[in-house]
Formats: sequence, structure tokens, C-alpha cells
Amino acid sequence: MKRIVVLTGAGISAESGIRTFRDSGGLWEEYDIMDVATFEAWEQNRDLVMEFYNQRRKQLYEVKPNEAHYALVDLEKDFDVRIITQNVDDLHERAGSSHVMHLHGELKKVRSTVDDSLVYDLDGWELKVGDHCEKGSQLRPHIVWFGEPVEMIPAAADLSSTADIYVIIGTSLNVYPAAGLVGYVRPGTPVYLIDPGEMSVGHIPGVRVIREKAGRGTRQLAEMLRSGKSG
Ligand code: APR
Repeated sequence: MKRIVVLTGAGISAESGIRTFRDSGGLWEEYDIMDVATFEAWEQNRDLVMEFYNQRRKQLYEVKPNEAHYALVDLEKDFDVRIITQNVDDLHERAGSSHVMHLHGELKKVRSTVDDSLVYDLDGWELKVGDHCEKGSQLRPHIVWFGEPVEMIPAAADLSSTADIYVIIGTSLNVYPAAGLVGYVRPGTPVYLIDPGEMSVGHIPGVRVIREKAGRGTRQLAEMLRSGKSG
């Protein structure tokens, strides 16, 4: 079976009703990254950071996967599909994808602030001050904040280098090191990019752009790949 490695970003969850970050109306228009998505913010204004992630986690219980997520699940019938996502939602898992790697953490998980290896599934949407790990420390969102190391990058780079087909869906490729993963793809590997927006892709040799929203674009690509017309 050919291996398809898929790098996804916020755009794949947009049609599920989850805001992206840098589109108009995106999250970073309403919040300053430095106020809600850094360890310093957590130390200086824990309540605001807690509330930012509680609200995003609460929304997860109100949304569901869209046809783009399901199209990737369907591809598993004919391909070995591995997903590397920048998203912290659980929509890939809920759609049924078998292999999902979260580069930037997971909204539904929390972790100890004294021992990074202590990670827990959060029961419900609300993390509160006073919720402690087994070692008695305050639990924090299991999210990679700006300035924190992306521990999964070596594994994601290795996985990207094994792709027979590489697909990029719904990411502005603004944030490194995630945006650099395409550089690990073997020369000559077909690379597809699905995004309705205009974005510069000159740095991706031979990329084939499908200028569509994720749902329609991923379905189109899946049909192409299954019919053997490309890949
Ligand atoms: N279908 C597909 N793509 C879409 C759709 C859609 N319906 N709507 C928007 N997009 C595209 C936008 O054109 C843009 O290229 O999704 C991309 C969203 O880009 P960002 O908002 O920058 O999100 P992302 O690339 O995932 O951000 C990367 O930055 O803020 C951090 O950690 C956060 O993981 C996030 C990282």
C-alpha cells in the first residue's frame, strides 16, 4: 500500500465551525497570542489562559468532523494514511482516522506542571484552578505554547520522509517548525496542497494546488488518487 502523509491545519476544521487563527475573523484577531498562548501568559494571567482554552474545549462538544476528515478516513481503504496535525481538536480521531500525530498538543488533555510525562484526559470541558496532578501540582492545558519545544517534530519529520504522497490541507504554513516538514519529503514525491486562499507555495517544488475548501478539495483529491490518475 502506498503511504499518504497528510499535514493538516486549522483550515480542515473550519467547515466544522472551528475558527482558524489568521483568516479574517480568526482567533488571533480577537486574542493576543502573548496573552493566551505562552508559558509567560500562564504564569502572569492564569485565569485568562485557562478560560481561553476552556472556551475552545467547550466548543469541541458542540462541533463534529466534516467531510474532509471523513474523506481522509475513506482513503485508508486503499492507502496507508498517516496524519500529522497542527490542530488541537479531536476531529480526526472522532472521524475515525487510525494514525493521528498532534504536533501542538490536544485540547482534551491536560498535564502536570511539575512532570511533563503526567498527561491526563480531562473529564468534561472545564479545567479549573485547584485541579491537581497526582503530584499535587496545578494541571495545565496539554498544548504546545509559542516558545515551547515541539517535541513531536523529529517523529513528524521522519514520517514525512516516508511519504509516497504528501498532502497539505488548511494551513497557512506560517508557523515553524511545522511549516518546515514539507522539506523532509523525498524529492520527486507528489505534493498536493488544498486551500481556498491565495498562498505562496514557491518553496514547495512541484506542488499541485487544489484551490478549494477542505471538504470539496479532499474529496476531489481522494477520487483522483483512488482512480490512480496521479500519485
Ligand atoms: N478549507 C481549507 N482551508 C481553509 C479553509 C477551509 N474551509 N478556511 C481557511 N482555510 C485555510 C486558510 O486559507 C489558511 O491557509 O486554512 C489556513 C489557516 O491558517 P492559520 O489560521 O494560520 O492556521 P494554521 O496554519 O493551522 O496555524 C498553525 O499556528 O496559531 C498557531 O498553534 C497554532 O496550530 C496553529 C498554528
